[in-house]
Amino acid sequence: MSTPAERHAELVQEIEAHNYRYYVLDDPVISDAQFDALLRELRALEAKHPELVTATSPTQRVGGAARTEVRKVKHAVPMLSLDNSYSKDDLAAFFRRVRDGLPAKQKPRFVVEPKLDGASIEVVYQKGVLFQASTRGDGVHGEDITDNVRTIHGVPLSIAHKERVTVRGEVLIWRKDLEKLNAERAEQGLEAFANARNAAAGSVRMLDPREVARRPLRVMFYQLVEGPRMHETQSETLAWMAKHKLPTHRRERVVDEAKVIATVDELDAARADYPFETDGAVLKVDSYRQQELLGFTSKFPKWAIAYKFAPERALTVLRRIEIGIGRTGALTPVAVVDPVQLAGTTVSRATLFNADQIERLGVRVGDHVYVEKAGEIIPQITGVETSKRTGKEKPFQMPERCPSCGTKVVPSTEEEAVTRCPNRACPAQVKAQIFYFARRFAMDIGHLGESLVEQLVERKLVRDVADLYALTVDDVASLERMGSKSAENVVRSIAASKSRTLDRLLCGLGIPQIGQVAARQLAEELGTLENLARCDPKTLRERLSRIGGVGPVMVDSVVAFAADPAQKRLLRKLLELGVSVPQPRQESATEGPLLGKSFCVTGVLSKKREDVHGELRAAGATIHDSVHRDTSYLVAGEKTGKTKLDQAKKYGTKVLTEAQLEALLR
Ligand code: IVH
Repeated sequence: MSTPAERHAELVQEIEAHNYRYYVLDDPVISDAQFDALLRELRALEAKHPELVTATSPTQRVGGAARTEVRKVKHAVPMLSLDNSYSKDDLAAFFRRVRDGLPAKQKPRFVVEPKLDGASIEVVYQKGVLFQASTRGDGVHGEDITDNVRTIHGVPLSIAHKERVTVRGEVLIWRKDLEKLNAERAEQGLEAFANARNAAAGSVRMLDPREVARRPLRVMFYQLVEGPRMHETQSETLAWMAKHKLPTHRRERVVDEAKVIATVDELDAARADYPFETDGAVLKVDSYRQQELLGFTSKFPKWAIAYKFAPERALTVLRRIEIGIGRTGALTPVAVVDPVQLAGTTVSRATLFNADQIERLGVRVGDHVYVEKAGEIIPQITGVETSKRTGKEKPFQMPERCPSCGTKVVPSTEEEAVTRCPNRACPAQVKAQIFYFARRFAMDIGHLGESLVEQLVERKLVRDVADLYALTVDDVASLERMGSKSAENVVRSIAASKSRTLDRLLCGLGIPQIGQVAARQLAEELGTLENLARCDPKTLRERLSRIGGVGPVMVDSVVAFAADPAQKRLLRKLLELGVSVPQPRQESATEGPLLGKSFCVTGVLSKKREDVHGELRAAGATIHDSVHRDTSYLVAGEKTGKTKLDQAKKYGTKVLTEAQLEALLR
C-alpha cells in the first residue's frame, strides 16, 4: 500500500504523462473517461490531504483570478525576431554571409525547422518549476501571462532539471481545433477567428485564465536561451527539450548547405499534412560556437533566417464574374471559379474586391487564376497565369448599369475605390438592407430567411424596411414554399419587433457612422422616432452635439440622414405603420449601486453587449463608448484592442474582466 503522498506523486506523474501523450504527441493511450477517473482520484486525495496540493499539481492549472492589470516583465535576453527571405536568391546571399563570417575551414551545418505560425512566448523554469511566462511584447519587455500559460496542458508545470531554464516557442491552435472552436462560436453568435494565429494570439493574452483554459491552445518550443550549457548545437537542444517533455515540433532536419534548399522544399510539400499552420522554414546554423562567431545585427541573429513560403494557393479557371450589391449600393465583383481544393476546403467563389483590383491584376474571364486564402477565411484572386492564355479570354468591365435595377452606376473615384448603384429603390440594395434591419443586434426579426426576402422584394411586396410592417398573412402565404402556419409566424415576428427599442431601430436603419453605442446615445437624447423624423436640422444638430462621445462626423451623418427626403418618407412611413419603438428600456437608473460610475464595455463577451449595457444602466451606471478621463471602468472582453487598454492605463481607468463585472453587479 502506498502512502497518500506516494499515491499523490504517482497520480501527478501519470496524469502529466497522459497530458503529454494527448496534447503534444496527439497519441493518447487511455480513454477520456479513464483520464477523468485519474483526475477525480487526485482531486479526492487532495481534498482529504490539502497539505499535498502543490503549485505543480495538474489540479492547479487553472487558478488565480483574472488579471486586472497588464504586468510587464523584462526578458533576461532580448527577444529578437528573424530576418525574412522570400526567394532562393535571398537564401544564397544568407549562405554567403555565413561563410564570410566563419573561418574558411569551418563548414557550417544547418538546422531546417518549420516556422510555426502562432504567437511567440517565453517560459522560465526555476528549480524545475514553471515560474514565469511572458509574451514577446516589444522584445525587451513582454506581458506577464504566467497564469494563462499554466492552463495549457502540453506545457509541463515542472521539469526534471533544477537549474534555471528559459525556453521560447510559439503558442498555436491546431487546424482541427480551430474548426471546432469556430463552429462553437458560430452557435453562440460570436464572430469566427479569421485564422489560427489570431485565435492563438488573442487567447493567450486574455485577462481571465479560466477563459484561456477553454481555448484549445498548444505550445511548441524551439529555442533555449538560458539553461544547460552542455549542448553544442541547436539540434541537441531540441532533442534535450523533447526528452524533458518540453513540447517541440520534432520536425527539424540537420543538413549541409548543399541540401538546405531541397530540405526547405520538402518541408513546404509536407506542411499541408502538419496539424498546425506553418508559414515558412527557419534556417539556423546548428553549432552554437559558430553562432557566437557570427553574432547579431541590431535586430536579428546573423546565424538564422526565416524563409517565407508562398501562401498556399491554387490554380483554377475563372468562369465568370458576378456582381454582389451591398446595402449601401456598393458593387463587389465576385469570381466564380472551377471548384478547387485550398487549405482544406473547396473554393468555388473568391472576391475580386473592386474594379481597381481587376484592373491591377489584368484579369480576364476564362483566365487561369491563383486563389489564395493568405491565412484568412475569405478566398481572394491574387494573380493571373498569363502563360496559360489561349487568346479566348475576355476582358471584364464593371457594368455601367446596376445589374439589379439597371440604374447607371457611379464609378469608383480616387477617394473611394467603390462602384456604387445610386438607386435607393434598387431591389438588391433593399434585400441587403432588410437583412441588416432584421439582424440580431438590430430589430432581431426571426423567420426572415434569404429566399423569403428575395421573394418579398421581387414581388414588390416590400420596397423598404417599413413595408415589412404592412405585410399580411395572406401576402406571405402567397409566396412559394410558405404554408399558412409559417406565414403567421413570419408576420408575428415582424409585429413583435415593433416593440424593440429606438436604439435598435436606429442601428437597423444603417445610418453611416452609427454603431450600437452611438445609436443608444442618440436614442436616449431623442427619446422618440418622431423627434428624429420631425426635428429641424438646426435643432437636431444642437441636440446631437450635446451628447458626449458623439463626434462631429457622426452628427453630420445623422443630420444628413434626417434631412434626406427619401429617409424622411421612410421614417414617416414607419411611424404610420405603428413602429413607435420605445426609448431604450433601461435608461440609467436614478439610483443603484453603480450610480455615478461610468463604464466602457469592449471586446467579445459571452453576452450581447447591449445586454451588458442594460444591466449596467439598471444599476445606475452610465456608458461611454470610448475610455476617457472620467471613465471609471473598462470592461475588457476577448480581443480587447491595445488602444483601449492603453487609454485605460493613461487615465487610471480600472480594467475588469467579464467575471469581475458580474461579481460587481451581484
Ligand atoms: S527561432 C532570434 N524558430 O518567428 C529569434 N522562431 O520572425 C530566434 N518562429 O520570433 C527565433 N517558428 O516567434 C524560431 N522554428 C522557429 C520558429 C520561430 C516560428 C517565430 C518566432 C520568431 C519569429 C521570427
